[in-house]
Amino acid sequence: MHIKSATFVMSNSDVAKCPKDNLPEYAFIGRSNVGKSSLINMLCNRKSLAKTSGRPGKTQLINHFLINDNWFLVDLPGYGYARVSKSTKKVFQKFITEYFDKRRQLVTAFVLVDIRHKPQPIDLEFMEYLGLNGIPFSIIFTKADKLKPKAIERHVEDYKTILLETWEDMPNYFITSSSKSIGQDDVLNYIDDLNLK
Ligand code: GTP
Ligand code: MG
Repeated sequence: MHIKSATFVMSNSDVAKCPKDNLPEYAFIGRSNVGKSSLINMLCNRKSLAKTSGRPGKTQLINHFLINDNWFLVDLPGYGYARVSKSTKKVFQKFITEYFDKRRQLVTAFVLVDIRHKPQPIDLEFMEYLGLNGIPFSIIFTKADKLKPKAIERHVEDYKTILLETWEDMPNYFITSSSKSIGQDDVLNYIDDLNLK
């Protein structure tokens, strides 16, 4: 798929105020600093459509971007960042889960995990939450530029092993690097296929 236009639409913390248009929507979620905002920029070939930072906790609201005038990409705050205060963290969790519970036009969530790390309980718990609530999701491994191919393979295998203990199948997954533009076509073609369904 070719991205002809990508426009920021709105940021807010209230799911009820998200765009009313019934357009298909794809959300990016994962731990703080995993690379959600960077991935959105990479997919759209834009440097700073979504704001990124080396410090975790940059994205704090639900951000809608309209793509090709007919679907939305959604950049969400990260979960599991210990350095935001407990009350702030609670607010994140509340509106993040509210977003997933209420947003009917969500086609698929992309759960981002850093390819360098072993499967982390918080990510597995989030996937379980999505699964139990019937929310389709795929996994996006990020920062693939940081590992050699063999190590990438090994880390994906670790995920498969642990996920297949609780799931019948391994969810769809993508290997990406925003800094090297790896995986752009794979993710965009996947979204394109879902939009045509
Ligand atoms: P929050 O909004 O804080 O939850 O973070 P985020 O998940 O949106 O992460 P963001 O895109 O802001 O990136 C966090 C840091 O990781 C930044 O310093 C990015 O430059 C870096 N980063 C993101 N993607 C990649 C990647 O593919 N490769 C490398 N090497 N660094 C990356
Ligand atoms: Mg962000």
